[in-house]
Amino acid sequence: MALLEVNGLTTRFELEHGPVTAVDNVSFSLDAGEILGIVGESGSGKSVTAFSLMNLLDAPGRVTGGTVRFKGQDLRAARRASGRRCAATASRWCSRTR
Ligand SMILES: Nc1ncnc2c1ncn2[C@@H]1O[C@H](COP(=O)(O)OP(=O)(O)O)[C@@H](O)[C@H]1O
Ligand SMILES: [Mg+2]
Repeated sequence: MALLEVNGLTTRFELEHGPVTAVDNVSFSLDAGEILGIVGESGSGKSVTAFSLMNLLDAPGRVTGGTVRFKGQDLRAARRASGRRCAATASRWCSRTR
């Protein structure tokens, strides 16, 4: 099992002039000790991808699809259950990366 598994991650911003899809169906997985660099032009969605993974998006941004599993735990479901921004299993990781 990978340490981090992201499948079909999709994030939208609901703006006055309509929705903007900032992260569109992104999938990747990382094993322990692996490092992934995300490269792209300014505004292409690198930061929003990272914020989406860690449940750190602020309105009007919202993750609208996909799954994020950290050590097998569904972080989006964990957040819904606990109401916390970072799931318990990832909290130390989140505090290091904020
Ligand atoms: N606070 C925001 N309000 C509206 N749209 C946003 C906001 N933050 C990001 N976006 C949208 O998400 C896109 C990706 O932004 P971002 O992930 O910050 O890009 P970068 O690759 O430079 O880190 C932007 O081009 C913009 O369309
Ligand atoms: Mg950025």
